[in-house]
Amino acid sequence: MEQQKIVFSGMRPTARLQLGNLLGALDNWVKLQHNYRCFFCVVDLHALTTAYEDTSELQENTYQMVIDWLAAGLDPEKAVIFRQSDVKEHAELHLLLSMFTPLSWLERVPTYKDQIEQLREKNLATYGFLGYPLLMAADILLYRAQAVPVGEDQIPHVEITREIARRFNYLYGTKFFPEPEVLLNKVRLLPGIDGRKMSKSYGNTINMSEPPDSVRKKVSQMITDPGRIRKNDPGNPDVCTVFAFHNVFSPDDVAAVADVCRKGEIGCVQCKKMLADRLTAYLEPIYEKRLALEGRRDYIRDILREGAKRASAVAAETMEQVRAAMNLNL
Ligand code: TRP
Repeated sequence: MEQQKIVFSGMRPTARLQLGNLLGALDNWVKLQHNYRCFFCVVDLHALTTAYEDTSELQENTYQMVIDWLAAGLDPEKAVIFRQSDVKEHAELHLLLSMFTPLSWLERVPTYKDQIEQLREKNLATYGFLGYPLLMAADILLYRAQAVPVGEDQIPHVEITREIARRFNYLYGTKFFPEPEVLLNKVRLLPGIDGRKMSKSYGNTINMSEPPDSVRKKVSQMITDPGRIRKNDPGNPDVCTVFAFHNVFSPDDVAAVADVCRKGEIGCVQCKKMLADRLTAYLEPIYEKRLALEGRRDYIRDILREGAKRASAVAAETMEQVRAAMNLNL
């Protein structure tokens, strides 16, 4: 029988996940879990590379993120769901890889200098932050993953992982590490409710676990074509936030919606009502599932413990091979 491909991905436990995380990444993970051997990791050590000063929300954010994952349909029976810091081999492999990773490889990762500039208040001129891509390489290589589902912004990190795999194999005369491929998430671009980029700092987000009445309220607040004054004026869907959402959530009738909008045959209120119905139908099951999970901390903790056990078994095997290749065994 052909071996199932191994898939690895991770998310940092920061704020509550937004609609964009569900559409861009999670729904993809949910599909992958049926056909591949999947490892999905709460990368709390990565969160520490930037948020090392105040770690007080780390545990709560971990719980909340796993709840979001489960609510979206990730199944602990199918995928290995675990927390990075529970599997110590991530730290060990990171250290060993650091021995032969040229500084210049890390310094030239495009996000590195950008982020230091953008997050000036944080002092990211740290050893840990420079090593961010290397820790990510350790995550992926520890499971000898062949495919890494991520967004476009992560491509340089997977590229450096490939280079590190190659360097290890070359230095220690082995073919042990496969070079992982990017499985690019299909992005369906959603603006914030005010038409700008969806971002927590703009206060224009919709969370993936937004309560239905709040979803309705936010849809009613969405900015439509500003040139459209009266209900019967012809509208321009290309500049309308509501239409951008129809594009994603009403695949079967976007064309019709655009048409009646251009002809001034549908008012924005009615168009928003249509969208609100679609969006709540999509999000309500997720919201309900989240409600049921919210109070079950023990259950979430058990899932993470069980996941860590399964991940550890694989990680320990990899490290045996790595130590042997580097003559760290006796
Ligand atoms: N850097 C990734 C992000 O910010 C998170 C991450 C950490 C990751 N380790 C990983 C993603 C390993 C894929 C594989 O989104």
